[in-house]
Amino acid sequence: MSDTYKKMAAEAALNHVKPGMRLGIGTGSTAEFFVRALAAKVAGGLAVIGVPTSERTAALCRELGVPLTTLDETPELDLTIDGADELDGQLRLIKGGGGALLREKIVANASARMIVIADDGKHVDTLGAFPLPIEVMPFGLAATRIAIGRVADELGLAGELRLRMASDGAPFVTDGGHYIVDGDWKSLSDPDALASRLAGIPGVVEHGLFIGLADMAYLGGADGVTVVEPSA
Ligand code: A5P
Repeated sequence: MSDTYKKMAAEAALNHVKPGMRLGIGTGSTAEFFVRALAAKVAGGLAVIGVPTSERTAALCRELGVPLTTLDETPELDLTIDGADELDGQLRLIKGGGGALLREKIVANASARMIVIADDGKHVDTLGAFPLPIEVMPFGLAATRIAIGRVADELGLAGELRLRMASDGAPFVTDGGHYIVDGDWKSLSDPDALASRLAGIPGVVEHGLFIGLADMAYLGGADGVTVVEPSA
């Protein structure tokens, strides 16, 4: 069922895509529904250009004929449409379940607007049931894990910090050549404080808390698509 909801959200967000737009194109199963719907519009004559947030999304766009550019050629974008692993009422997001959080955040930050697409099961009161992905440098991994653990302790967060593994048994490696540790802290009482503390750790390349980036969300569910805009 959640695939149906993801598809509904992705197709609703497509209404925001206008001719000539420079788009950030997200990563994940919901973003994949968006790419497929976008490709159909492109085939029908819609002229847009996109910056993909992962190699996986780039490959799908190429396969389906969605024109691509790079953030170096096109450093300012009109709109990014991307999925999320969790979102709260302030449209703070957890992202990175698919491992693309660094490029996703760079692209979202380069966009005038960001629209989130998701099934409504991802809308939560408090972020954190989904473990927080944190992209880290392989160099100094053990020291970086200790530093992250110290921040968690200081913020009263208890839980496991896991190095993400790939299916071949080796550490999962991101498109940027980094590792990911997932902070399974269950409930993030102060995501803003956690975001700023994690950003201050040298071995942390980026974390999956997206704060102040999303402008609206389309959520697919049993009652159709609902729109969420950040509460004050
Ligand atoms: C990719 O790194 C993530 O940020 C995805 O946007 C997020 O995991 C949502 O993925 P799904 O749409 O597959 O749930």
